[in-house]
Amino acid sequence: MAGDVCHILGGCAGSTKKESDLSAVLARGDIAIVGADLNRSVETIESYSDFLSETEQSRAREYVQDRDRIQFIQRRIVLRRLLGDILGRDPRRIVIRTDPSGKLFVAPDAQSRPLSFSMSHSRGRAIYAFAKQRQVGIDLEYRDPAIDVLKMAGVICTPAERDRLNSLPVGDQLDAFYDCWCTKEAFIKAAGVREPPSFEVAFWPDQPALVRDRGMPKDLRRWSFHRLNRGPDWAAMLVAEGDSGGFKVTEIAESRVPAL
Ligand SMILES: CC(C)(COP(=O)(O)OP(=O)(O)OC[C@H]1O[C@@H](n2cnc3c(N)ncnc32)[C@H](O)[C@@H]1OP(=O)(O)O)[C@@H](O)C(=O)NCCC(=O)NCCS
Repeated sequence: MAGDVCHILGGCAGSTKKESDLSAVLARGDIAIVGADLNRSVETIESYSDFLSETEQSRAREYVQDRDRIQFIQRRIVLRRLLGDILGRDPRRIVIRTDPSGKLFVAPDAQSRPLSFSMSHSRGRAIYAFAKQRQVGIDLEYRDPAIDVLKMAGVICTPAERDRLNSLPVGDQLDAFYDCWCTKEAFIKAAGVREPPSFEVAFWPDQPALVRDRGMPKDLRRWSFHRLNRGPDWAAMLVAEGDSGGFKVTEIAESRVPAL
């Protein structure tokens, strides 16, 4: 299933016009992903900041770097646009809350309760995942060829994951590390894990999977892992609740979602 993503208007076999709508994808029980470019002009972004809640505006003000603040605003504007499209509501009036694990959710009501979403950003790009009736987590990372892979693995990976990384040819370690990192972060986001060392993952060149979870030892197959192809410089992973045979992953172009 890794990388098996339908692209709306991209010639995915069986796609219909109805399937190209974000809400329709979710109504079928499938997962929708949307990619966004965060590199937009300062003037455009700042003029939209009143689309954000007070909480979001105050968080935006905490960013020291202009670029980081602008990209945060941009991420939330896109998120609100997408949520507005899914819920059929004014994007400005949607109440976004954070649960104790750090996961965002739309304040419960009859329309939004079953909606799960996750987002990630790296180097001016963002990616969003939406699903109904199942938890999702997504992670995107720019594969920086200049990083010290083993040093970073010392921070992010468990001892067993580090051993596995060390056993690979040096030329494969960068790709393997980023695959591992994305797999872990997407799982954290999907499952609401608060202690990253409590679980271990399999990663490239193997299929991504959860191989150990001290918190939920009998639950390993509750989650499915979907490696996403975002181009040669990027690693991306989607983790979803349920067997991968039970749903499709469909990418929708951001341009197909109405502007604010
Ligand atoms: C939570 C975490 C996964 C976010 O990943 P990141 O690469 O820093 O940032 P991303 O852009 O991918 O994701 C950020 C988004 O994730 C969401 N998010 C944050 N914490 C979350 C959580 N606990 N669960 C689900 N989603 C979360 C937010 O929507 C956030 O967007 P925002 O900044 O606009 O509010 C990461 O920071 C983290 O805390 N990891 C655990 C710590 C650790 O040890 N990591 C290494 C082992 S994997």
